[in-house]
Amino acid sequence: MEFNVLLAILLALPLSGAHSWVERLRRLGLNGTMVGDPGYVRGFVSRLDPTFDDLRMQHHLPPNGRDAQLGILPTDRICRDSQRVSRSSDMFPRLQAWPGDFIALQHQENGHVTLPEASPHKEHGGTIYIYGTPNPSEDDALLSIHRVWNADGTGGDRRGSLLAVRPFDDGQCYQINDGQISIARQEAFKKVPADPQGADLWCQSDIRLPSDVCGAYTLYWVWEWPFKPDGLERPADIYTSCMDVDILPGIQQGEVSYVDGQDLNWAGIKQQMLAI
Ligand SMILES: *[C@@H]1O[C@H](CO)[C@@H](O)[C@H](O)[C@H]1NC(C)=O
Repeated sequence: MEFNVLLAILLALPLSGAHSWVERLRRLGLNGTMVGDPGYVRGFVSRLDPTFDDLRMQHHLPPNGRDAQLGILPTDRICRDSQRVSRSSDMFPRLQAWPGDFIALQHQENGHVTLPEASPHKEHGGTIYIYGTPNPSEDDALLSIHRVWNADGTGGDRRGSLLAVRPFDDGQCYQINDGQISIARQEAFKKVPADPQGADLWCQSDIRLPSDVCGAYTLYWVWEWPFKPDGLERPADIYTSCMDVDILPGIQQGEVSYVDGQDLNWAGIKQQMLAI
């Protein structure tokens, strides 16, 4: 790509330096449609808030400014300070869901999917790990949970489990820019603009809550974004979001009966829902 074309793309994308977090949670019906009210992560700050700044939502490990050789330390917490304890507001409440519900955790790709040329030293998008626990601790450390808790719940201190591993690039999401990937996806995954995504199509990770949860259940979203192998040993960048779900009495049972061709503004991802 010519330098001036790349430059034009970068200038057209004010968010190119921005990173990602869980913007919103939605319940998914078994037919794949988002239903009910949205829920939010702990201490959520809206992008529309006049005091909004990326640094009020992102949690990056190892933290900026630390000697890269040190990497992530055993004491580094999995949640940013504003998300260590359960905290929500009337405007941005927790998600309410039933045991066994399908849930979409939505994030913005910020060019990490559609403008790979903006981060040539990084792997495409990376991978998201979603952990769940009925018994969170405000001191939960990343290294005691990430790649330690397993699907059986027998990893580490056994307080939680790995619910799903999902690609950061869910195969369809895009933000509007002049890059080839975005242009191709705007055509392949057409939708009418709708709030809060506007013309963008947010990425998502779809999970299913365990059927034996009650009261409250905590989710840790861990995005691991590695460097391409280049002879330098560098730990992957990690970004996290921490959130709670209020569990309602009852249970969502049944098989996925996904309706193809539905409005992408409000649709889960069939392959992810069937993969559970
Ligand atoms: C899925 O079911 C919900 C009701 O649970 C309904 O509102 C929605 O329209 C359905 N979606 C499709 C694509 O049929």
